[in-house]
Amino acid sequence: MDKAIIVKNLTKSYVTYLRKGLFKREKKIVHALKGISFDVKKGEVFGLLGPNGAGKTTTVKILSTLLLPDGGEARVLGYDVVKEAAKVRKVIGVSLSVEKGFFWKLTGRENLIYFGMLYGLNGEYLKNRVEELLELVGLKQLEVGDKLYEEYSLGMKARLSLARALLIDPQLVILDEPTLGLDPPSARMLREMLVKIAHKEGKTVLITTHNMFEAEIVCDRVAIINEGEIIALDTVEGLKQRVADNMSLEIFAFLPAEVPQETLLLKLRETTGHPSSIFAENGGYRVKVVVPPGNVDEITAKALRVLHEHKCSVRRVEIREPTLEDVFIKLTGKTGF
Ligand SMILES: Nc1ncnc2c1ncn2[C@@H]1O[C@H](COP(=O)(O)OP(=O)(O)OP(=O)(O)O)[C@@H](O)[C@H]1O
Ligand SMILES: [Mg+2]
Repeated sequence: MDKAIIVKNLTKSYVTYLRKGLFKREKKIVHALKGISFDVKKGEVFGLLGPNGAGKTTTVKILSTLLLPDGGEARVLGYDVVKEAAKVRKVIGVSLSVEKGFFWKLTGRENLIYFGMLYGLNGEYLKNRVEELLELVGLKQLEVGDKLYEEYSLGMKARLSLARALLIDPQLVILDEPTLGLDPPSARMLREMLVKIAHKEGKTVLITTHNMFEAEIVCDRVAIINEGEIIALDTVEGLKQRVADNMSLEIFAFLPAEVPQETLLLKLRETTGHPSSIFAENGGYRVKVVVPPGNVDEITAKALRVLHEHKCSVRRVEIREPTLEDVFIKLTGKTGF
């Protein structure tokens, strides 16, 4: 079988209570997964990409057997995540949070030995495996294997978390936002490691991310998830083909404090006829519009006029090939994330 994960029509809702005044509360049902389906092939790095609240963590928790789905089916390495949960747990490595679950008063090395023993590893094998992993994730090179976990930086914790997920030499590794909060060099190291684990060691890697750049450089295939639904699934190149005919107009500008971003977005959409997005960047803002090729000049002029009318100081205008971000904007009409 060439599939590591098969997900069919998976649904999950949460019941929450919204506080209404001091004594009243209102029941609300959140449909976190509205029947998603996807497959992950063996040996690939697969990314679940989506904004906050899209349903990424819910999906990986179900696949890791930590949460029961309401409906649908999910199989991991051939095993059903509900009916054969114990078998699933024996063959996967999971890191759902970089910081949770470690012992603060143990060193990194001791933590790995402890969790290795929990997984039933022992003796020379465990000792060697821990050393191998400390080296693989670069903690040995940093000479911090004997440092207390509480003294670890976030980057070191992320590496240790990956090492723990690899302890049992799993065929499938599931990681929820593995680079969240890391500085660019640490994030880059970790991303390189993920690709190596899949492409050199033949493991399957499933990551979630809200970082489009990360998905673009790490993943063989990406499922874009939004509001509990998968809205696109393809290779990064395949996804980009969907906007290949478009260009991406980016304007870097300083917006006056009195102009709300929403007003500007609305005006830009009205005037250019295309959805646009605004991202804070370097103390100013990056305004982005996805543009059909024939109209680039006209739309650039229109967008600049809107910015000028709202007293924005334009510093840079760029017209580029589209990215995954543009795919998301085109598919959802939303302003990116
Ligand atoms: N335990 C819970 N109780 C109630 N609602 C929840 C719970 N966990 C998640 N949700 C809701 O389910 C939806 C999906 O959440 P989920 O954590 O899966 O999203 P996510 O894609 O991982 O987001 P993020 O990028 O913020 O981590 C959200 O609307 C969230 O508020
Ligand atoms: Mg999440």
